Amino acid sequence: MRGIPEPVYLESGVLYVLDQRRLPHEEVYLEIKDVEHLCVAIKGLSVRGAPLIAIAALYGLLLEIEDRGFSREVLLFAMEKLASTRPTAFNLFRALDEVRKAVDSGAGEEKIKRLIKRLITREKESTHRIAAYGAEIVGGGRALTICNTGVLATGSMGTALGIIFALAERGKIEMVYVSETRPLLQGARLTAWELLKTGIPHRLITDNTAAYLMSLGLVDFVVIGADRIALSGDTANKIGSLSLAISAKYYDIPFYVAAPVTTIDRSLLSGDEIPIEERDEKEVLEFGGRTIAPEGTGALNFAFDVVPSKLITAIITDRGVARPPYREALEKLLSLSDAELGEDAG
Ligand code: MRU
Repeated sequence: MRGIPEPVYLESGVLYVLDQRRLPHEEVYLEIKDVEHLCVAIKGLSVRGAPLIAIAALYGLLLEIEDRGFSREVLLFAMEKLASTRPTAFNLFRALDEVRKAVDSGAGEEKIKRLIKRLITREKESTHRIAAYGAEIVGGGRALTICNTGVLATGSMGTALGIIFALAERGKIEMVYVSETRPLLQGARLTAWELLKTGIPHRLITDNTAAYLMSLGLVDFVVIGADRIALSGDTANKIGSLSLAISAKYYDIPFYVAAPVTTIDRSLLSGDEIPIEERDEKEVLEFGGRTIAPEGTGALNFAFDVVPSKLITAIITDRGVARPPYREALEKLLSLSDAELGEDAG
């Protein structure tokens, strides 16, 4: 994949997970043999990014079936553990829900395994369509993005970064500004690594540089991924996305969200209802293994924020592009059946 190693794959009963905590300095795979270990890897961000979390969890269910044998209890127990790892990214819950429904309908081992494999393929293939739709509507030029939304976050082309890859292939990317993404530096460590490997011009900026960069006229568009999208179009994504959206609105710069429809939570009418993950304050208080604040200082560590839909120019999905009014547009995209898309829904 574009010189970027496969972030997760299953081989001979072992799930290989590229340990993203150690990138860009070391390319090391964790060898995961059970769901317990996988949950630790997801919580610790060795495997991360909304689509990849779902893919890894689905592989985890296959592992569990191989290891413990197929039963409703085994699957439900594993799914409960996986669902307790990260609360915001919706693709995981959507995937688990689809498996749970099939299990509840009495589907047997072979049918469930086929379903799981199909869900993995669906999640991976969706990013190619997002990139194609995105490259049609985003003009190109100088991009600004946050966090990591590429191969490492999706196991395929990427969402926001997938669009940048597609535009770069068409010779339409002049520069990508990469927000470093404090506190865990997914932008600096992972997105810069993917852009370097694919030879796309990029510059790293501190998160607090973004508004000034826009004021200088150096950003033509902003594109971000999403962890959960409410029916209103309000979008939860990596902390810092909201500041980018407000600044982009002020400077009249198009602001795009890119995500598969599996990120849309049709049960939520507005972004206020999206659960936001809060992580250990140590991630903020420490840097490179050293404490950076005085002893006794606490920290707030929201992993995500919510961008109100009125700040979003368009939401680019694998089923097409949604524009305001979002509720109508997103419901329409969600209602397109798999059969209409020529997918094997059986
Ligand atoms: O905490 P992370 O690294 O899992 O956060 C990832 C993001 O916020 C991504 O933008 C989002 O999951 C979309 S990835 C295609």
